Amino acid sequence: MERRPLPPELLLGFATSSYQIEGAAFEGGRGPSIWDTFCRTPGKVAKGENGDVACDHYHRWPEDIALMKGLGAQAYRFSIAWPRIFPTGPVVNEAGLDFYDRLVDGLIAAGITPWVTLYHWDLPQWLQDRGGWADRGTVYAFVQFAGAVVERLGDRVRHFITHNEPWCVAHLGHVEGLHAPGDKDWYTGLRAAHHVLLSHGRAVPVLRAGAPGCQVGITLNLVPGYAASPSAADADALRHFDGFFNRWYLDPLYGRGYPADMVADYAGLGRLPQGLDFVRPGDLEQIAVDTDFLGVNYYSRAINRSSTVPEAENAPRQIAEPGPEARTHIGWEVYPDGLRVLLLRLTADYAPRSIYITENGASYATTPDDSGAIPDQAREDYILAHLHAVVDAAEQGAPIGGYFAWSLMDNFEWAYGYAERFGLVWVNYETLERRPKQSALAYAEVAKTRSLP
Ligand code: FCB
Repeated sequence: MERRPLPPELLLGFATSSYQIEGAAFEGGRGPSIWDTFCRTPGKVAKGENGDVACDHYHRWPEDIALMKGLGAQAYRFSIAWPRIFPTGPVVNEAGLDFYDRLVDGLIAAGITPWVTLYHWDLPQWLQDRGGWADRGTVYAFVQFAGAVVERLGDRVRHFITHNEPWCVAHLGHVEGLHAPGDKDWYTGLRAAHHVLLSHGRAVPVLRAGAPGCQVGITLNLVPGYAASPSAADADALRHFDGFFNRWYLDPLYGRGYPADMVADYAGLGRLPQGLDFVRPGDLEQIAVDTDFLGVNYYSRAINRSSTVPEAENAPRQIAEPGPEARTHIGWEVYPDGLRVLLLRLTADYAPRSIYITENGASYATTPDDSGAIPDQAREDYILAHLHAVVDAAEQGAPIGGYFAWSLMDNFEWAYGYAERFGLVWVNYETLERRPKQSALAYAEVAKTRSLP
């Protein structure tokens, strides 16, 4: 059968994050993070699970690098645990940096390019105690953190992502309370979002100064919306959803400030009782700092319906819901074409210099069969279909730089605990053995042949 060649410049890799895989929560001088606290708050994480041990990557990283090398990875996206670097206050813990120093050296020796994410949600608890992301002081602390990391790793790391998914930090963490720190207030969430974006804007020049010529970007989780019907009410629901999920972050990052239609919507809904009082003169210019790439995490799309007209005209009363296609174990609809549509829209509307898919993947509960192999057809199909969508978008003009599968291995899936398995490599949580699933072998074949079936 004829295979479809990958664009020669398309980088293929794996992604993970510190709290989800490292474990060793009390080693190397690490201090507590907001996720340690959240996991210990009854009712917040399924089965009360936590990241104390996780995949024990902190000790098994040489094995994990060898695993990736065997699977043909060109790049590896991981995050730095801030509470390893600044455990209890604004004083650097060198032992924390030592860990990443060794990891980076190991990756480079294996021919794998390190991609460093600074913030993937594990804020030091001491900063939360001072107000966390809702407090402007955390912006300064983040810039200091970026400086410490680039000072140690900037001679070898050429790719930095400031933040992972500000929407999740702001909305899940501060509006819905489903993630740490568990606040439930709209104004606090929008305020936190602003401080996250501002800290990005201020960290970029620090990273560039510390690692001249490096590539810097930010990763957003973006969801393409589709109107449920051609009605004007559904079109307006779509506008609102897109503003809430996508434009609230994209617009300020690309120099347009916060979208006026959304500021009006939020004010009308009572979510901005003090307006945008957290935005100070100069902030928006700093947030709009020039970047080298946009990181995009894509999992699914949303169908948008109005909740403001009678159900008979626009049923059911929901703002966003999955479409009719098959769903993964976590309940997210499989919709590869949404990724192509999203990448082309970003290209047309925001013209990023380049775009990396920094996460894409699926949760399925596959386990070893009697022979010890791990049949994993659904995940293989998911990854391959999304890679086709990426190549489609590249052929249609999107400046695609690379693709990182989420995730290298099964890990701690936040509020779901260990129940959702996003790994291409299976983890036995009793023995901590790693074993490639069928999907990992298919992905390795893509990497090896530089082509898609
Ligand atoms: C993203 C997160 C990542 C993982 C995947 C499934 O929102 O960035 O840590 O949880 O979803």
